[in-house]
Amino acid sequence: MIELHHVRKLYPPRSRHGQPVLAVADVTFDVARGEFVSIVGPSGCGKSTLVKMLAGLMDITAGEIYVNGQPVCGPHSDIGIVFQTPTLLKWRSVLDNVLLPLDILRKPRLAFTERAEELLRLVGLWDFRNDYPSVLSGGMQQRAALCRALIHDPSLLVMDEPFGALDAFTREEMNLELLKLWAGREAGRQKTIVFITHSIPEAVLLSDRVIVFSPRPGTVDSIFEINLPRPRTADLQYSEQFQAYARNIRSRIGVAANAAVAQQNTPRPTRALV
Ligand SMILES: Nc1ncnc2c1ncn2[C@@H]1O[C@H](COP(=O)(O)OP(=O)(O)OP(=O)(O)O)[C@@H](O)[C@H]1O
Ligand SMILES: [Mg+2]
Repeated sequence: MIELHHVRKLYPPRSRHGQPVLAVADVTFDVARGEFVSIVGPSGCGKSTLVKMLAGLMDITAGEIYVNGQPVCGPHSDIGIVFQTPTLLKWRSVLDNVLLPLDILRKPRLAFTERAEELLRLVGLWDFRNDYPSVLSGGMQQRAALCRALIHDPSLLVMDEPFGALDAFTREEMNLELLKLWAGREAGRQKTIVFITHSIPEAVLLSDRVIVFSPRPGTVDSIFEINLPRPRTADLQYSEQFQAYARNIRSRIGVAANAAVAQQNTPRPTRALV
């Protein structure tokens, strides 16, 4: 479903005296149709940058990205994106925000009102459908953004730390709801999900594979296959097998971070004197 080949992103300097920023160095991985893949890595390692490139919202400096066999060279419609911050339009009600992709894709709203209701009930926002985003908490806005990403039933869902602002209990509930959605019980077909998170337990609970990124410039440090049984439940987190996965991933992130520091501190070879 998704293929990334040697993807690189160099941001130009922000000012005349600034330096360019190499955010993503050389990222290669693929995601199979119907797979749930999480990406974890330290802050600033280029995860959000990768999401924007995957969604066709940002140019790639080098390399290639394919979705459904097509090279990504602009925004595509069979994708739902949940950004790190909710990005709702403040002059539209919650319901109108959820229906926004249909307006953009020129699809009839009426055919999707039932789905909008279903999604808003699922995330506990039906009673707030006529309110403006400003009266919602950050977590509620993020849940509305999740409904917006799902309204047109995309086969690919890309989520950039979607539940970071939620309390632990709601987050766990949303994780389990997301797994149901992914499994296709809700939408009638299985989705492919790329999920960015800072939470290792969340990544283990949800994913078929967890990709660990190195510190900036982001590259794939390692990939863990999570062979835990499905359907997954919250209780699974207390199993020894689950905790072993979480421990291994955490220590791998530590190793990658230390390697990056060591590389920065390695003295550059001095020029030979002639
Ligand atoms: N528009 C931009 N111009 C220049 N540099 C940028 C721009 N956007 C991001 N960066 C830089 O690129 C690097 C990667 O940023 P990005 O937001 O992709 O990281 P991230 O892994 O999502 O971090 P976090 O986990 O904190 O969300 C950072 O050093 C950031 O400062
Ligand atoms: Mg980010």
